[in-house]
Amino acid sequence: MPFLIQSLVFFTFSLVATATVSPHIVHEKRDVAPSGWAPVRRAEANIMLPLRIGLAQPNLESLDDYLLEVSHPESLNYGKNWSPAKVAETFRPSAASIYTVLEWLEDEGLAASRVKLSQGGSWVHANVTVAEAEILLGTEYHVYQHSESGIEHLACVDKYHLPEHVAEHIDLVMPTLHFDVHMNRKRSVDKSIGQPGAGIVNPKLIGEIEVVLTNLTGCNKQITPDCLRALYDFDYTPVATDKNSIGIVEYTPVAYLPADMDMFFGNYSPSQVGQRPALVSIDGGYEQTSFQGFSINGEANLDLQYAMALVGATQNVTLYQVGDLVEGASFNNFLDALDASYCTYEGGDNSSFDGIYPDSEYKSDDCGTAPLTNIISTSYGYTESLLGSAYIQRQCYEYGKLGLMGVTFIFASGDNGVAGNGECLDANGAESYSGTRYNPGFPATCPYVTSVGATQISPGNTVNDPEVACDTNIYSGGGFSNVFGLPEWQADAVHGFLDNYPPAYAADVYNSSGISRAFPDIAVNGLNYSVVSNGRTQLVAGTSAAAPVAAAILSGVNDARLAVGKSPIGFINPTIYSSNFTGAWNDITSGNNPGCGTDGFSAQPGWDPVTGLGTPNFPKLRDLWLSMP
Ligand SMILES: *[C@@H]1O[C@H](CO)[C@@H](O)[C@H](O)[C@H]1NC(C)=O
Ligand SMILES: *[C@@H]1O[C@H](CO)[C@@H](O)[C@H](O)[C@H]1NC(C)=O
Ligand SMILES: *[C@@H]1O[C@H](CO)[C@@H](O)[C@H](O)[C@H]1NC(C)=O
Ligand SMILES: *[C@@H]1O[C@H](CO)[C@@H](O)[C@H](O)[C@H]1NC(C)=O
Ligand SMILES: *[C@@H]1O[C@H](CO)[C@@H](O)[C@H](O)[C@H]1NC(C)=O
Ligand SMILES: *[C@@H]1O[C@H](CO)[C@@H](O)[C@H](O)[C@H]1NC(C)=O
Ligand SMILES: *[C@@H]1O[C@H](CO)[C@@H](O)[C@H](O)[C@H]1NC(C)=O
Repeated sequence: MPFLIQSLVFFTFSLVATATVSPHIVHEKRDVAPSGWAPVRRAEANIMLPLRIGLAQPNLESLDDYLLEVSHPESLNYGKNWSPAKVAETFRPSAASIYTVLEWLEDEGLAASRVKLSQGGSWVHANVTVAEAEILLGTEYHVYQHSESGIEHLACVDKYHLPEHVAEHIDLVMPTLHFDVHMNRKRSVDKSIGQPGAGIVNPKLIGEIEVVLTNLTGCNKQITPDCLRALYDFDYTPVATDKNSIGIVEYTPVAYLPADMDMFFGNYSPSQVGQRPALVSIDGGYEQTSFQGFSINGEANLDLQYAMALVGATQNVTLYQVGDLVEGASFNNFLDALDASYCTYEGGDNSSFDGIYPDSEYKSDDCGTAPLTNIISTSYGYTESLLGSAYIQRQCYEYGKLGLMGVTFIFASGDNGVAGNGECLDANGAESYSGTRYNPGFPATCPYVTSVGATQISPGNTVNDPEVACDTNIYSGGGFSNVFGLPEWQADAVHGFLDNYPPAYAADVYNSSGISRAFPDIAVNGLNYSVVSNGRTQLVAGTSAAAPVAAAILSGVNDARLAVGKSPIGFINPTIYSSNFTGAWNDITSGNNPGCGTDGFSAQPGWDPVTGLGTPNFPKLRDLWLSMP
């Protein structure tokens, strides 16, 4: 019964339908359950739910303006990132929102003693029965079962309602429609769905390397740190390592193996043998070794081997290891640890969506405890359709708020071309293997992150030839969001593509409106990485590989700026799309990202939804950023 949050408590129902002061309106809806999930029965009326009401945050409509103020290259305040305190204060829910929601709950018969406000003031929490929640929200709760794993999850059918005068003060209510289901890792450690790592990004194992090639002539067979240095002209020795920082995020059970690091360093960077990332443990995260295998160690080994080798022996790399083996974790657990103002009830998540802490292993719940690094790279992802738009909007804003504090968020764009997690969307917007509509990834479509697609060396070519979009083993995730609008800084790039190279697909295949956020933003090689995993040197492909490499290269830019007393690059999207930066990207003009029974989009001159602006040219990026304030 993994969805049962509380022990069963039998309540006498004190709720009676009271006169409402305004009509009830639909607050969030979903047309069909996510792929693989089907309702099996009505939820028992007396199951207790930890109801969480996310209050609307003020000033979010100004987030773009605030961000552009510190991140647009023409802004006078470029680089003047905000303090966490200023961010928290600016977006704290208003007293009116808090009052309205508490009053509504009281009117509905929930005694004030049962209702609590989070420390950050952004969540209202109450333990209610299913019967109470159904009346409050004008909905029905059903038990859904996942066809493959048999795992059960409690969720509302189709939609829920709120009184009109209350709705404007609420972003979302949980648990309701969302399926960000955490799984019991001990039972199904590598088969969980809805867990980061089981989504749109997974390093693909191609084969084993028998002869390790270490000179550049081998780069069209095996990608090594030296191949990447040559491709992107990234030959840089950091000088401000005491000021700089870079973080890689891993979600337990995924973990690196120390012996694999040393074998990799032995092959490619001997001075780093014995070096380890600096661990920041979140919600009990640790470098577990009780589960092993490529599906457990491949991602973390890949991310850390390449990030550490590329930034070099003198720059610390932070490993954010999130979640223990009992609960695992989601992006929300990580964001809670980064920003206390994002935390839910009294300092942490506590619902069926996220790892529930404290648990039997970890007796705390991390809220605002993790230090921020200048760049954070994540090679995990979901799809937009899996999570629902209110949920992903709230999470996306948080990336924007952390961007205001100067953090650059790098996400892999996905490995299935236009097909999200491998499935496409049907006419109702549900994920399905027979769907024909493109299925965009998340957080890749969040405008406040920088999304990285994958390129490859053409067969027979060298590191000196132009790369092409990756079309071997994996396809670069890309396309157009169904949720997020087109940001101002991306408009020229996207319109340029749509006008000059109009895709031959109708609006029922992709969001062709021309008003939605498009991805990826940039690309980096993603094919045939040499990665040591479980004692063997393996050939691996994925945007999983591209993300930490992009992060390492951008970390070199941060180092150069910090060395001369400038700020870290922070939220980079307005800058990288600006005309001065055009020549700093190697434009990729060949290849496509198939899926959903189509060829997907094609790489073209300028920005495209396969390889974005192109691959980095480090010296040009560094010099341009050094010329900025
Ligand atoms: C979260 O849920 C667990 C399990 O039901 C409970 O033991 C714990 O007290 C809750 N924590 C908070 C902060 O509500
Ligand atoms: C672009 O570069 C020129 C020349 O260095 C500089 O004067 C101008 O301010 C830059 N524009 C932006 C938007 O950075
Ligand atoms: C809900 O129940 C849990 C577990 O019994 C408890 O820890 C928590 O404080 C309760 N929350 C509220 C708002 O009463
Ligand atoms: C590169 O390595 C291969 C295989 O180890 C070797 O045959 C070749 O001579 C090397 N080339 C250079 C330029 O060192
Ligand atoms: C990738 O590896 C495969 C398998 O060894 C090989 O056939 C292919 O040529 C390689 N391609 C590139 C571009 O490295
Ligand atoms: C790197 O990390 C280690 C261990 O956390 C710490 O002792 C050291 O001071 C760090 N070095 C720098 C340059 O920050
Ligand atoms: C297309 O994107 C826009 C902007 O994000 C959105 O408003 C619209 O609903 C999307 N269309 C579809 C069919 O999803």
